Amino acid sequence: MPQTDMFDADLPADSELASRQDRASALREQLHAHAHRYYVLDDPLIPDAEYDRLFNELQALERAHPELLTADSPTQRVLGKVLDGFTPVRHAVPMLSIRTETDTEASGAEVFDARVRRELGLLDDAPPVEYAAELKFDGLAINLRYEHGVLTQAATRGDGETGEDVTQNIRTVGQIPLKLKAHGIDAPKVLEVRGEVYMRRDDFDRLNERQREHGEKTFVNPRNAAAGAVRQLDPAIAAKRPLSFFAYGLGDVQGWEVPPTHSELLDALAAWGLPVCEHRTVAQGASGDGGLVGFHRRIGALRDQLPFDIDGVVYKVNRRALQEELGFVTREPRWAVAHKYPAQEQLTQVEAIDIQVGRTGKLTPVARLKPVFVGGVTVTNATLHNLFELRRKRVRVGDTVIVRRAGDVIPEVVGVVAGERLSYVPNFAMPTSCPVCGSDVVRERGEVDHRCTGGLYCAAQRKQALLHFAQRRAMDIEGLGDKLVDQLVDAGLVRTLPELYKMGLTKLAALDRMADKSAQNLLAALEKSKAATLPRFLFGLGIRHVGEATAKDLARHFGQMDRIMDASIEQLLEVRDVGPVVAHSIRTFFDQPHNREVVEQLRAAGVTWPEHEPLTESDSSTLPLAGKTLVLTGTLPSLSRDEAKAMIENAGGKVSGSVSKKTHYVVAGEEAGSKLEKAQSLGVPILDEAGLRELLAAAVADAAAPEPESP
Ligand code: IVH
Repeated sequence: MPQTDMFDADLPADSELASRQDRASALREQLHAHAHRYYVLDDPLIPDAEYDRLFNELQALERAHPELLTADSPTQRVLGKVLDGFTPVRHAVPMLSIRTETDTEASGAEVFDARVRRELGLLDDAPPVEYAAELKFDGLAINLRYEHGVLTQAATRGDGETGEDVTQNIRTVGQIPLKLKAHGIDAPKVLEVRGEVYMRRDDFDRLNERQREHGEKTFVNPRNAAAGAVRQLDPAIAAKRPLSFFAYGLGDVQGWEVPPTHSELLDALAAWGLPVCEHRTVAQGASGDGGLVGFHRRIGALRDQLPFDIDGVVYKVNRRALQEELGFVTREPRWAVAHKYPAQEQLTQVEAIDIQVGRTGKLTPVARLKPVFVGGVTVTNATLHNLFELRRKRVRVGDTVIVRRAGDVIPEVVGVVAGERLSYVPNFAMPTSCPVCGSDVVRERGEVDHRCTGGLYCAAQRKQALLHFAQRRAMDIEGLGDKLVDQLVDAGLVRTLPELYKMGLTKLAALDRMADKSAQNLLAALEKSKAATLPRFLFGLGIRHVGEATAKDLARHFGQMDRIMDASIEQLLEVRDVGPVVAHSIRTFFDQPHNREVVEQLRAAGVTWPEHEPLTESDSSTLPLAGKTLVLTGTLPSLSRDEAKAMIENAGGKVSGSVSKKTHYVVAGEEAGSKLEKAQSLGVPILDEAGLRELLAAAVADAAAPEPESP
């Protein structure tokens, strides 16, 4: 294969014998070939550092000997010159647009096929017309002019007759070859390649994130970002905007025999090193899976998973001879058509801005919209994420906004269409109390989200709170899963945690799809759950920042529920691992009278847990594993993970999920993985189950031994 030869070809040794000229051109060939593997095939052969080494060598050579520099050199992608405008370019062959079929499901393809057959004068029983079907990329059209294989000019479409010279910026696009790839045929005298410059969704997200970090303007969608980059006057900025390219057609061609079909043309362009999208097919006629209809359906299903935006598919009569026979109407070919999918962005008006309370109490501003059909559904609400996003986008009631719904994602307001507001509209402000339950709304320092402090009391948070309470690690109410919680809450049977314990058999059994037996099982599970432990109960309340471990620490430290509810911030801070954020969250929770009431009612319903006297300073530090952090990994021979954890915690030790320098021991069983490796590399002592038991026994013995008396 000529391609492999190019990579394998020995570079002339940098000796007196080999001319610099040979060295420079060999480096250029290699760099072109590697860039193609990297950018177009996404399959690099060499590490980036090796590419950089070759690149730097070429750059140094060209600097020292400017006569070696060529226009197609890979070093010439970013030239430093800032333009004061773009030069107009008259297209040798006009850049046409294509007709769009309306987006009713199958009919777009069928209408096009019927028209083509009629215009070709085909009888009903004539065989199907062959089509090339491809994607309609959502970017901007570019004409790339290659002369003798070297990229000499890149131009935008403009009005179709005259575009703008954007060569400088297009050179920065890694996927666009500066030189056509050699593959055994002489490069044509002139080859104009047409295609779409676009931005991948992930590149777009990263770019916007970067813009946001630098306090710069963000882009509304990948298409706008791509268009902005292409028309950027400073090529150094353009180079930082990650663009991609797909070739889909031809402009002026001299000295090359164009393949007889469009599908073969695309193969040929790929062979010249141009990126051609893999999602294309040759279809026979319109109907069925093998026809245009099938392609339209398959791509429609794939659309959301593609790494870039498309707004439809394009059908082209495959045979060039037939294309010529069909010709053009005004500015559009009769042989091609775009079949669009429902748009993912639409304009509409903001009628109101409401607040939605999510399951963690997060308040989300939501734009209530004049109904609009976007991304295949009618959208009436779109998220504005949080107060800061809303302010950044400057959305106010009455504004005309762009709404985007791509795939299954929640519809989003991407921006306001610039225009004047007819009257003064006050800036949106977050409510100070929860619109659902009236509890205080807070925003913690350093966080963007506002939250309702209502917790269990807030209806919007109820379902989630019930599920949290019922989970295995909390009250362990068997059979109370999300479906049942939905049902109980929706039927108005349960509004608060205590009400769980007040449900009677009759009301329960009256629920849809609830058999007597399941109702009885649930009641039995509820009864069983009443015998709780303080840490499980505390964790089950769902106080923000109070996970299982903190609940255990609190329970151990205070011993009694009432002491926890009444603890001051200072007292809470005395608990190990409780910092200001956690202490504040606990205090805020119990400052809401209704949260205290929930605890009282649960007690009244019969929920109990053992309590003990609070630990004194000396108690907690004399626990044998006090201050020690252990990590469990793999399967121990006789102890379950939970049992091992309980043993360690009862001895005052802490179990952590990850190994660090601060880990005192790693307890490893069968099939221990990366945590064991990490422990080994950090030199953390490793124990097996027997070792853990020994440690606990030794620790207990130590703790029991009297302190050596100081002299
Ligand atoms: S072919 C003579 N193929 O859609 C046919 N165009 O109006 C010329 N587009 O702005 C266009 N994907 O930039 C063709 N696979 C594709 C395309 C495509 C996107 C854009 C093109 C132009 C518009 C067509």
